[in-house]
Amino acid sequence: MSQKRRILTGITTTGTPHLGNYVGAIRPAIAASRRADVESFYFLADYHALVKCDDPGRVQQSTLEIAATWLACGLDPDKVFFYRQSDIPEIPELTWLLTCVTAKGLLNRAHAYKAAVDQNRAANEDDDAAITAGLYMYPVLMAADILMFNANEVPVGRDQVQHIEIARDIAQRFNHIYGEDYFALPAASIEENVATLPGTDGRKMSKSYNNTIPLWLPAKDLKKAILGIVTDSRAPGEAKDPENSNIFAIYQAFASAEETAAMRRAFADGIGWGDAKQKLFERLDQELASARERYDALVARPQEIEDRLLAGAKKARERSRAFIEKLRWAVGVRRLTDRAEPDTAKKPRDHAAALPLMKSYREKDGRFYFKLTEADGTLLLQSRGFDSPKDAGRFAAALVDAAGDAAAVQALVRESAEGDAGEPALAALARLNAAKE
Ligand code: TRP
Repeated sequence: MSQKRRILTGITTTGTPHLGNYVGAIRPAIAASRRADVESFYFLADYHALVKCDDPGRVQQSTLEIAATWLACGLDPDKVFFYRQSDIPEIPELTWLLTCVTAKGLLNRAHAYKAAVDQNRAANEDDDAAITAGLYMYPVLMAADILMFNANEVPVGRDQVQHIEIARDIAQRFNHIYGEDYFALPAASIEENVATLPGTDGRKMSKSYNNTIPLWLPAKDLKKAILGIVTDSRAPGEAKDPENSNIFAIYQAFASAEETAAMRRAFADGIGWGDAKQKLFERLDQELASARERYDALVARPQEIEDRLLAGAKKARERSRAFIEKLRWAVGVRRLTDRAEPDTAKKPRDHAAALPLMKSYREKDGRFYFKLTEADGTLLLQSRGFDSPKDAGRFAAALVDAAGDAAAVQALVRESAEGDAGEPALAALARLNAAKE
């Protein structure tokens, strides 16, 4: 696999892209995808959409709109992996493999599930009233998205950080159980200098507050939406505070440093809200107009987008198919005729079973002995009988401690057993000694 850092993110296909999505996620992600030292994976999380939305038309329309948005904004599908989650059947398959190593308690602690339970309690309902298993399993599906492509970095909003931590936990657990580092451990990355846009009412722009400005409104509707942004009641000519203005915050997210400085001066000089809104509209329209044209053209040709998504899935599946094969092997989902180990997969690590054994015991004659055996049971060293268990134990421990010093080992062997220790016994003692560290 390539050594480039892998960055992956998914977009749930339930809504219509708005300005906040553009500034907070789409624009920085497309900029990052142009870096030469990374491999980027962007996908439409339509299976995740089903957790939140049972309107099939909406899921389909949102998939179309989000795909068209990314393409219109300049994502180059030849340079990145751009696909629809449901076109990668290895993802739900991996979800099951991960489900089987995921502690239920880990999912009990997931914020979204807990919030739903809390709501039920507040309403005096049963804890799990109206909570689907889909909501509960959401973090595991998301872990599969991430681990399927061994992503190193997952750019997300703060609300998603716990999901990445859960993915990390699940990856570690799988690696541990199956004895190899199958999965890279992903980390969340939160772009600190990416703006969170205020919505039309001043709170964070978010679908759940119903205060968004859709990204691809026709120019005249965009203008109307901007005119609807809440401002304070300062009249034209009165100085205005840029730090407490939604208009200024949105303007700043689109403007250059010089433009922003000029707007700051205009605020101090008492620009009227109407004029400030007009300037904001012009700046937005300048940035979005040509992408909007591309967007409209793309949405009008869904077949073209469909073809690109299928091509993206084909490219992504070159990775996911090979990897799921390896993972199936790892867990024992194998062809019955296929008994040899492929060199891509190792046997689960089982240190305890693979190590030689030094064992003290009592024989029927009432005396105490120790013996050293290979992991498969082959006898390497047999002690004479001792009157007390302590003596047998002391020699056994001293032998392991002396490993590496052949002369000391032989001296102890002569005292405690018969004949000299052979090469295999010396090697076994050395391994036991190393394992103690
Ligand atoms: N849960 C994410 C959200 O609601 C979307 C998502 C699904 C995702 N799978 C992902 C994000 C994998 C990052 C990585 O925003």
